[in-house]
Amino acid sequence: HFDDHEAIWLFGYGSLIWKAGFPYLERRPAHIHGWVRRFWQGSHDHRGTPEAPGRVATLLPCPGAVCHGMAYRITPETLHPLDVREKNGYLREITTLHFADGDTAQGLTYIATEDNAAFLGEAEPTAMARQIAEAHGPSGPNRDYLLNLAEALEALGVEDPHVTDLARRVRTHASADIEPRTR
Ligand code: BEZ
Repeated sequence: HFDDHEAIWLFGYGSLIWKAGFPYLERRPAHIHGWVRRFWQGSHDHRGTPEAPGRVATLLPCPGAVCHGMAYRITPETLHPLDVREKNGYLREITTLHFADGDTAQGLTYIATEDNAAFLGEAEPTAMARQIAEAHGPSGPNRDYLLNLAEALEALGVEDPHVTDLARRVRTHASADIEPRTR
């Protein structure tokens, strides 16, 4: 039988903000210190293909920075499918979660570093936006991942200039594609 004391907090900063896909005991907006969200991880299995990988979020260490996301209190068993699902270069990281009311808790998150084969790193904003606008994978269009994240952050009242800038570029890219060509 599940003992509530074994529950753990999982911190999501990417797709987990708007879509859990697993059962949870509790869900709370949270933030962590010393990390920034960047679309620097390649995705060849979810939001892209090996030939045309997409870009998804990872965290980069950044002293003084704050990254806002969503925390889920889950049973330890819930992590097993997550560990499989997130195998694509993401490693577990223990960090302190801060809640809006000032509470803190130890939590777990998944981070993809430059040590993993799928890591893409930084690129020109125009190049990153084009890549996201055009990549598709088994989980859907890469642009949906980005725009869902941008909307979820906005709904949380969170400002993330990196995400906002990419979303603006990707929306522009898409509308240019569907507009009829003029001469
Ligand atoms: C997230 O959505 O926060 C996330 C999902 C998988 C790996 C890392 C982060």
